Amino acid sequence: METQSLELSQKREKTQKTLANVMVLPVIPKVMLESLKLLDSQFTTAKELDKVIAKDQALVTKIITIANSPFYGLQRKVTTIEYAIMVLGYRELRDIISALSVAEAFKNKTDRYLNQKEFILHSYITGTTCKKLSNELGFHNSGEAFITGFLHDVGVSIIHRYMHSDFAAICELVENKKISFRDAELEVLGMTHENIGQFLLDKWNFPVDITDSVAKHHSSPTSCHNPTICSIVQMADCMTQKLKIGHFTWDRDLTLDPYTMKIFNLERDIDFEKFAAGYKDLFWEQVEFVRFLN
Ligand SMILES: [Fe+2]
Ligand SMILES: [Fe+2]
Repeated sequence: METQSLELSQKREKTQKTLANVMVLPVIPKVMLESLKLLDSQFTTAKELDKVIAKDQALVTKIITIANSPFYGLQRKVTTIEYAIMVLGYRELRDIISALSVAEAFKNKTDRYLNQKEFILHSYITGTTCKKLSNELGFHNSGEAFITGFLHDVGVSIIHRYMHSDFAAICELVENKKISFRDAELEVLGMTHENIGQFLLDKWNFPVDITDSVAKHHSSPTSCHNPTICSIVQMADCMTQKLKIGHFTWDRDLTLDPYTMKIFNLERDIDFEKFAAGYKDLFWEQVEFVRFLN
């Protein structure tokens, strides 16, 4: 038992060393960085912001698509960035661009172990579902819930890009030994994708409400700095698994914590099944909306 925990801590140390080196590498795309700087200043005008964001048409498309997607829940249709700024406001726009920046910085190519398109789809769907669930719960930090949902599995992206042989080893363990991804992650890295995501987002100074919820989306939200955000992410993630949205199944063993059930007024498993089924059509509408984004 002692040898086992020693091994685990040695593996964890090794992973932490790799991560420390990784953190200096990723670069946020220039336009995103400029936009975030502008959004931090209270003197920035919508016109200035529009001019900067317009330099990156892929970013324009992503912002407009997210804003108009069924789960995002805006009443009015957004067709230009200037109008998006007006309807969303600086804070919300900042949340969207922050989430997109991190995803962009850690993007990798598809291979036999990870389909990048499916991973990104899972991120968009979980993020926008968090936004929708927040609105329905009357939870006012819906922007933070969106970022957390969008980035909850960013650790998976980091393992794939910077610890690729470990990523392959995890997938092979899952396949050959029929164990969960979580157990395989611990066996190979001494850490999970939640810990790795938290480590990265901490380094990039994301608020503790977000980093802590990323860290605990597979465990109990009760020990979280903001248990409501964590519950929303857990629920959104579980719904994607239950409704089989996309082919990214890393979180397939995720279960709902009793605290999350309580937040959503659900008592039994069957209540969750009904709850999720009620969103089925909207989910597929949402998938159609964001499928082409990458
Ligand atoms: Fe996860
Ligand atoms: Fe997930």
